[in-house]
Amino acid sequence: MKVRAKETKRPLRMIVANWKMHPDSVSEAKALFLASKKEAMRRKNVQTIIAAPFVYLAELHTRAVGARVSPIMLGAQDVSGEKGGTHTGEISAEMLAGVGVSHVIVGHSERRARGENDDIVAQKVSAALKKGLVVILCIGETARDTSGNYLSIIETQLRIAFATVPKAILKSVIIAYEPVWAISGGDGRGQTATSDDVHEMVIFIRKILTSMYTRPSAERVPILYGGSVGGENALVLMQQGMIDGFLVGGASLKPHLFGAILTATNEK
Ligand code: PGA
Repeated sequence: MKVRAKETKRPLRMIVANWKMHPDSVSEAKALFLASKKEAMRRKNVQTIIAAPFVYLAELHTRAVGARVSPIMLGAQDVSGEKGGTHTGEISAEMLAGVGVSHVIVGHSERRARGENDDIVAQKVSAALKKGLVVILCIGETARDTSGNYLSIIETQLRIAFATVPKAILKSVIIAYEPVWAISGGDGRGQTATSDDVHEMVIFIRKILTSMYTRPSAERVPILYGGSVGGENALVLMQQGMIDGFLVGGASLKPHLFGAILTATNEK
């Protein structure tokens, strides 16, 4: 049977800028957002998502023009797994959606390192999807071993995070493969995964998703790579890693580096 192109087509390439706990002030955040937006507007094949600290989101939304159709969309770096109530310091999916956020990073390794386990990640995935947010699920092993145990870590992370996610909602999911050992300076000076490492992992992730859902639905899920992505390694990772884009940390704080990564992603 002929597979219709539409069934396996994934959306635009994408880049998620993970600002982490930067910058220090709202005025710097506005300036960085505008500089990033300027870079993003020039690369029409790439959907750019800026994941800024919570406190800047409402302010930045007013600068994201036309939210859902713009090449710039707004993301949060975390979300509560709770709907609302007595949870001091937590931010719900509904609150995020209410200030114009469309995407949320869930399960970043820096949150997992603070005690967030796979069950908590699953709760957050579910809470975010229920409120219509697109989830960017971060998965990744802390170290590589020669016997392939790292693959079972990835499989467990995927199976638990998506245990209650129905096939119909999978279209609101993006996966960011971020090997923890490769996350560092973000300007290409740290240890990066090779394009072969990344390609192998993309195949593995799609195999697990196919076993949980169907092949066409698994094929549609965008898979990003994150970990020390810079202008000089983005193109080869993009061309040979079989990814749909990047989750960028450090380099997303420097518009010229971010622009170079956008160019590589745009030119795949
Ligand atoms: P990095 O961060 O690009 O600075 O390595 C990536 C991430 O932690 O998401």
